[in-house]
Amino acid sequence: MRLLSLCCLAFLLFSCGGDAIPPAPAMAPLADLPIIPLPFEMSSRDGYLWVDTDGDAAAGNSGADAGAMDYLRSRDLGMLPLATSLDPSLTLPNEAYLLDISAEGITITAKAAAGLLNGAITLVQVVEFSPNTERGIFLPAGTITDQPRYAYRGFMLDVARHFFGVDTVKQVIDRIAPYKINHLHLHLSDDQGWRIEIKSWPGLAEIGGRFEVDGTPGGYYTQEDYTEIVNYAAARGITVVPEIDMPGHTNAALNAYAELNGDGKARDPYFGTKVGFSTLDANKEVTYEFIDDVVREISAITPGPYFHIGGDESSVTPHDDYVKLIRRAQDIVLKHGKKSIGWDEVAVAGLAEGSVVQLWNHTEYALKAKEAGNKVLFSLAKRTYLDMQYDSLSRIGLHWAAYIEVDDAYNWDPGTLVDGLTEKDILGIEAPLWSETVRSLEDIDYLVFPRLPALAEVGWSYQMKRQYAPFVERLKVHQGWLKEQGIGTYDSRVFR
Ligand code: ACM
Repeated sequence: MRLLSLCCLAFLLFSCGGDAIPPAPAMAPLADLPIIPLPFEMSSRDGYLWVDTDGDAAAGNSGADAGAMDYLRSRDLGMLPLATSLDPSLTLPNEAYLLDISAEGITITAKAAAGLLNGAITLVQVVEFSPNTERGIFLPAGTITDQPRYAYRGFMLDVARHFFGVDTVKQVIDRIAPYKINHLHLHLSDDQGWRIEIKSWPGLAEIGGRFEVDGTPGGYYTQEDYTEIVNYAAARGITVVPEIDMPGHTNAALNAYAELNGDGKARDPYFGTKVGFSTLDANKEVTYEFIDDVVREISAITPGPYFHIGGDESSVTPHDDYVKLIRRAQDIVLKHGKKSIGWDEVAVAGLAEGSVVQLWNHTEYALKAKEAGNKVLFSLAKRTYLDMQYDSLSRIGLHWAAYIEVDDAYNWDPGTLVDGLTEKDILGIEAPLWSETVRSLEDIDYLVFPRLPALAEVGWSYQMKRQYAPFVERLKVHQGWLKEQGIGTYDSRVFR
């Protein structure tokens, strides 16, 4: 009732004369809004846009890009008066955008749909941090011109050590998209579980997917589930990268199919958290039939360009076997139209030109990757592993690489990590969440936030623009926003 009478009063005061625009409340200039990741350039102008949230909703945006509008609608902002314009002749990256707000409305201009979507993602934050009153939304006038430093900003979810269902993965996607994370790497198989249906090898999921760490019930995605995740992610600007780890980290497959083992005997399910004890047999032809079927089926339902073949910690695979298997696996990936990504050691096997080496431990592999014509993706454990604890009091997480607080996640420059690498040798960065100690969305939130916004800014924003102290001020505002959304972010000491 009270709200209704306030609305009536506002209506009488401001709307009687037709389109009378209410006076603005106190508001920060556009360039002072706490946007994360920090845009390349923000400039403020006098004036503001008033959006009558009670008014005739989508009146102003009938011609706007469907992808950008769908994203806004997914955040309950379908009423914004948005016009979009695609200009393929712009000499900008596809993800760049120009967002302009004036009293007349909002425009987003970009070279490609990905840029329009990024503009919409920024616009959600502009709205969030501007006055939103019972009279409507007031947006400060100005322009944001933005483009990413790196093309790949990733988040990895380990669904093998503990399994997370489709709904949880969608909630994770909704949490990472606002930070312009544009790749979701799903670690779909490991010693403890196989998490995707392979129709030609049904036992992989049905037998290999039964358990997770500690022997609790596991699960797997049907191919339809996986497609649902892929589509949900795509609508939010995110490309799914599937990983089937090999030749190590394969106990779940070796449990499901006896013939994949060198001795022909099925392995027991594994409920622990050790690594480096399992291997496919590089000298059995059935191994390559298995890899071919798995890569073929998953590639057919993966629109993105990458297939991750793991390759890490294959401690019981003889070196020559490792090289042989990784080379054949990457040939299979190429045959099915994808590019390989692999962890550190795959660099010694010599990946095909155009592949990607994801560095988590040994930066010395970076130059080997470069020599082979590969780009590198930085996921250094002591900076980006979100399963690392914040400090010794963290309720979950591990600390074999480091304790990682917000400043550790933020204060590094991918461009200066390895002498001899230039900016164009670096595809981007990715923040993995391994799930040995992670059992629920609440656990995911606790470890991912607020460190993911810090890493997202490392990947998106140019080094010369980034400064830690002002970032923390912006992050404090995001911490409040995350909590308002019910995201159980960790109360980092940087806020105290
Ligand atoms: C890894 O952490 N074993 C990639």
